[in-house]
Amino acid sequence: MDVVNRYITINNHVNGAPQDSDFELKASPLALSLDPASNVVIVKNLYVSIDPYQLNRMKSFSASQKTSDFAVAIVPGQAIDTYGVGKVVASTNPEFDKGDIVVGLLNWGEFTVIKAGGMLNKLNTMGFPLSYHVGILGFSGLAAYAGLFEICKPKKGEKVFVSAALGSVGNLVGQFAKLSGCYVVGCAGSKEKVALLKEKLGFDDAFNYREETDLNSTLKSYFPNGIDIYFDNVGGEMQEVAVSNMNINGRIAVCGVISEYLDSEKRAAPSMIEVIYKRIKIQGFLAGDYLNIFGDFLSTTCDHLRTGKIQPLEDISDGVESIPSAFISLYRGQNIGKKIVKIAEE
Ligand SMILES: NC(=O)c1ccc[n+]([C@@H]2O[C@H](COP(=O)([O-])OP(=O)(O)OC[C@H]3O[C@@H](n4cnc5c(N)ncnc54)[C@H](OP(=O)(O)O)[C@@H]3O)[C@@H](O)[C@H]2O)c1
Repeated sequence: MDVVNRYITINNHVNGAPQDSDFELKASPLALSLDPASNVVIVKNLYVSIDPYQLNRMKSFSASQKTSDFAVAIVPGQAIDTYGVGKVVASTNPEFDKGDIVVGLLNWGEFTVIKAGGMLNKLNTMGFPLSYHVGILGFSGLAAYAGLFEICKPKKGEKVFVSAALGSVGNLVGQFAKLSGCYVVGCAGSKEKVALLKEKLGFDDAFNYREETDLNSTLKSYFPNGIDIYFDNVGGEMQEVAVSNMNINGRIAVCGVISEYLDSEKRAAPSMIEVIYKRIKIQGFLAGDYLNIFGDFLSTTCDHLRTGKIQPLEDISDGVESIPSAFISLYRGQNIGKKIVKIAEE
């Protein structure tokens, strides 16, 4: 049997803010009958992840493209791989059967053809919605967990600052830090987000960075005794002022620098004298470096979800055609929590 596979591609390299015109919905026939010797799995995509780092893959050049298998350049016209959950509709790979629910490297489309050696695992949902396994129980959750616990090592009573705090990673960092007994302040880009951080997610305080004219004074007012941990999702000026407000032996996990993704000339220039004399640790990391703690992360996060100690925050759009606008929304601050596109019903 043949199906029509609709998928998203880029028309050209994207070197500034992504626009609708950068994307195209393509369609091509896909045969579901497989050669028995092919060792291939065809997955019907159900939920796919929408992540800021894809923009760096879409550029004609980004340093990130050479450093990780997940971040290689996207070729205009070709399918775009991403983390997601799907259902096997055809398989000649002995490890997978038709009907299996799987998680792994799918693509921004309706179907993914995965050759032997591709990143794909059977999914034990553990009773949670499939979408959770794309975000809170996937790489966004792992990034929050690994960055906070492996790099920053929070102690009870420490002061934690999180940027892009209502985003997919940031909201979890704040929630994990609260569960560790820390004092947590987040920043985000609207009044509504600030209210959600304080009222729904239990942050001690939050502010709208877009309304502030002097970020250094702002941080001083929220952290009169200094910051012990900064979880950086944005880079730029916020990173510079966070360094200026860090305490001795402070830790900074650099998870992402989204404010620098749109402008290759933009660079944070934190005071290295402060870094030295305050003995601040600044460490960049990739969630994929921490697969060794995936089991710990999963069992801890599932327990917190079951007991209601952590709130999941998802922002789900419908249909393959909504992928470009879902992606663009990240750069306009329009998402509330983990941005996911639901491609199809199970
Ligand atoms: N190291 C890793 O393994 C890893 C894994 C996942 C994500 N990341 C990184 O972590 C960061 C957050 O990712 P996410 O998936 O959780 O995305 P997200 O926070 O859910 O979405 C992006 C958010 O970034 C904020 N933003 C957009 N443009 C901005 C700008 N110019 N300045 C400041 N904030 C801006 C917006 O929120 P506001 O309304 O607050 O502006 C937007 O909602 C990104 O930098 C991403 O690349 C890294």
